[in-house]
Amino acid sequence: MPRKFTDSKLVVASHNAGKAREIVELLQAFPVKVVSAKDLNLPEPEETGLTYIDNAVLKAVAATKECGLPALADDSGMSVDALDGAPGIYSARWAPNKDFAVAMERVRREMAEKERATGLKNDRAQFNCCLALAWPDGHVEHFMGVLQGHLVFPPRGKNGFGYDPIFIPDGYDITCGEMTHDFKQTISHRALAFRQLVDTCFR
Ligand code: IMP
Repeated sequence: MPRKFTDSKLVVASHNAGKAREIVELLQAFPVKVVSAKDLNLPEPEETGLTYIDNAVLKAVAATKECGLPALADDSGMSVDALDGAPGIYSARWAPNKDFAVAMERVRREMAEKERATGLKNDRAQFNCCLALAWPDGHVEHFMGVLQGHLVFPPRGKNGFGYDPIFIPDGYDITCGEMTHDFKQTISHRALAFRQLVDTCFR
């Protein structure tokens, strides 16, 4: 049986400002006081997992152990079909000093190399998000959200963060970097995972 969330306080265990902001906003509709890992000065655990689920669970469990509050963590990234799913769980690491212009250029370059090697053009990609909610007694619930789309170069749009300027979700003709923040919040992989979390644990 999935566990319902009945506490009055929750820590959002994300040190990434863009992601933390999106999660805090999504939680605003619920009667729960939200504090961030940054507010509580929680250490950032090393992401040693091999899947989005492993890493989200690891971050949520580390935060709840550290502060004694239930913790919600996210692990997310972009998987590119032509690159066999890379950068995937290593999406943040492709950006030295958080410079996503470098990461997006690496994606472009590696896709071009692959296209030359195989003669096949494939611009499909997904944004993936796993949300994990951990309680201090060790119970964990987790939820996956996937946003399908394709990539465009050069990057477009100044909104959003990370790989948003090269990702066009299916059904749209603008990148996530060109969408308003509020609109992206209604369709994102994080929103999709969040909806499952809410339906399972908050209703
Ligand atoms: P992590 O979950 O901390 O490992 O970081 C995931 C990385 O994936 C982020 O630093 C971004 O580069 C990328 N990412 C995750 N979600 C999004 C998104 O909504 N838009 C663009 N990039 C994202």
